[in-house]
Amino acid sequence: MAYSEKVIDHYENPRNVGKMDAADHSVGTGMVGAPACGDVMRLQIKVSDTGVIEDAKFKTYGCGSAIASSSLVTEWVKGMTLDQAAELKNTEIADELALPPVKIHCSVLAEDAIKAAVADYKQKQAK
Ligand code: FES
Ligand code: FES
Repeated sequence: MAYSEKVIDHYENPRNVGKMDAADHSVGTGMVGAPACGDVMRLQIKVSDTGVIEDAKFKTYGCGSAIASSSLVTEWVKGMTLDQAAELKNTEIADELALPPVKIHCSVLAEDAIKAAVADYKQKQAK
């Protein structure tokens, strides 16, 4: 299969790979798996007091498209509000990376991961 240049770029130079302290009150963690292939993605956000995402990190155990999707999302969400981040659509990711149909679920994984990270952060604040 031919990968787009953007996928290869993110795959070879993934942005924001890493880990944050999941116990930190200002960090939201999303951990999701893709039933279709078993790939796993962890995406974390650090949120300011004003509800803006200051930093994002990811670790993906999966295919090149999943790595590229999560790398792209960590770039996109920096500077976004929680609500903006939660509204990201997998179709925006798939379009940006020109993912072929069989790789669309990889972008769904990234959408699920950022939504889960936002939900985790909000749940922490509610406590
Ligand atoms: Fe092989 Fe996702 S199916 S890495
Ligand atoms: Fe399953 Fe990409 S996440 S093949």
